[in-house]
Formats: sequence, C-alpha cells, structure tokens
Amino acid sequence: MTIFYITGTSMGIGKAIAEQALQIEDSIIYGFSRTCSIEHEKYKHTLIDLSNINEVNSLKIEKYPAAFKVVLINNAGVVGEIKSIGSQTNESIVKVFNLNTICPVLLSNKFIQTYKDLSVSIVIINISSGAGRHPIESWAPYCASKAAIDMFSQVLQAENGYEANNIKIFSIAPGIVDTNMQQQIRDSKSNDFPHLEKFIGYKKDGQLTTSDSIAKKILEIIEKPLEHPNVLLDVRNH
Ligand SMILES: NC(=O)c1ccc[n+]([C@@H]2O[C@H](COP(=O)([O-])OP(=O)(O)OC[C@H]3O[C@@H](n4cnc5c(N)ncnc54)[C@H](OP(=O)(O)O)[C@@H]3O)[C@@H](O)[C@H]2O)c1
Repeated sequence: MTIFYITGTSMGIGKAIAEQALQIEDSIIYGFSRTCSIEHEKYKHTLIDLSNINEVNSLKIEKYPAAFKVVLINNAGVVGEIKSIGSQTNESIVKVFNLNTICPVLLSNKFIQTYKDLSVSIVIINISSGAGRHPIESWAPYCASKAAIDMFSQVLQAENGYEANNIKIFSIAPGIVDTNMQQQIRDSKSNDFPHLEKFIGYKKDGQLTTSDSIAKKILEIIEKPLEHPNVLLDVRNH
C-alpha cells in the first residue's frame, strides 16, 4: 500500500498529482486545502487553512504501519503580493512564509515522528521553485520561503543519511506551469513587477508546461527515488 499526503490538492499541480496517484494500485490519498474538488473512494480530504499555524499544529496524520511506502508532498504555496519590499503588507509576508515554509517544516516533523520507527519507505517531496535559487524582484518573501525549503530539505536528508534507502527527501522546482499561480503573476501591475511582460510572453508563446506533465515526472521520482541522488531537483532536467 502506498499512502500519499498532499497539500494543495484543490487545483494546479497538487490536484494533478493527487489524480494520478489515485490511479496507482493500492494507493490511498489524503489531501489538504481550503477547498475540495476531488471525489473518489480512495481520496480523503481535510479542509484546512495551512497558513494558519494553529490549524497545522492540530492536524492529524493517519498512520499506516503496514504501508509499503508513505509519501508527503508539501505542494500548497502562494506567491503573495507581487510588489517590492516596502510596499507589501505584513499580512501577506507572514502568509507566504507560514504556508510555503513553516507548514512544510511542521508537517515533515509530524510525518517523520509518525513513521520513523516503522519499516516503511518514506519519501518527502517539497515543491520548491527556481525563484528559491535565483532572485526575482517583487517576489522577495516567495523567493526566500522557497530558498528556506531547499535548505531544510538538504538538512533533513543529511540527518537521515545521503545513502539511506528508506528515507528520501527532495526539493523540486517544477518549472513554469500553467496554473492559477501563473495567472496571478500575469495579473500583477507592470509598475510593481519589472518582469511582467516576460511572464505574459511565456503564456503567449506556449512555454508553460501542464500540471499533468509535472505530476507525471514527480510520480516517476516517487516510484524510483533511489535513482535520484540529489536533494535539489529541477523537473526541467528530468
Ligand atoms: N505554477 C508555477 O509556475 C510554479 C512554479 C514554481 C513553483 N510552483 C509551486 O508549485 C506549488 C503549487 O502551485 P500551483 O501553481 O499549482 O498553484 P495553484 O494552482 O494556485 O494551487 C495552489 C494550491 O495550494 C492551495 N492553497 C493555497 N493557499 C492555501 C492555504 N492557505 N491553505 C491550504 N491550501 C492552500 C490551493 O487550495 P485552496 O485555495 O483550495 O486552499 C491550491 O490547491 C506551489 O508551492 C508553488 O510555489 C509553481
């Protein structure tokens, strides 16, 4: 049995991963987001605001001691207000870090506590971003929140051994994907975002990838995690 725990499953990349994971034989999927758009006998949804740390703290991870593999995918994320620092609200900044960084760290902590003493294969996938590896003006909290998750993932793998067969951690940049997040970026104002035209061009020129193709690559990594020695991955290279 493979058990998936996936955040942000109501749309975009998370929904595509959940829908493809449902096709895997003997899988059960737990999804977490503020709205639910999947109905399936193997899919269990928790309505939760993952930027609310109290809600994350009280979240229960259903334990499957007999599972063959358990997979946590920290996917839910927001870009936040697209403005330079000095013009962003504190509320937006806190939300970005809570959702993109604190929540994945808390869930990883809970997940490892739940499964570390069992003989089960553990995979944690943190959905990162190229923006965590290259600075983009007007996205400072987003870039920093993703850079933090890259480093967190590397420390987590180091703590559990780079040669470990039973626990694999990845921080994966998905590339530029045609989702609600890209729409939000294109809806920003050119006065606020110096790269607006470039992002409008990506869409116009058909350069965005689909959530389905990214989900497929992520599930391939989950299926054969030992084939990927590096913690930091970029799906564009796979
Ligand atoms: N799209 C890209 O080009 C791109 C590029 C690099 C990295 N990424 C990363 O990929 C991941 C998925 O992004 P996406 O493009 O698929 O975005 P999306 O289409 O906007 O979907 C975001 C998902 O996160 C959930 N979510 C947002 N705020 C939440 C909250 N407060 N509590 C619980 N769930 C919340 C949303 O569900 P609800 O609204 O129902 O709660 C939704 O299911 C993110 O981590 C993003 O940073 C995306």
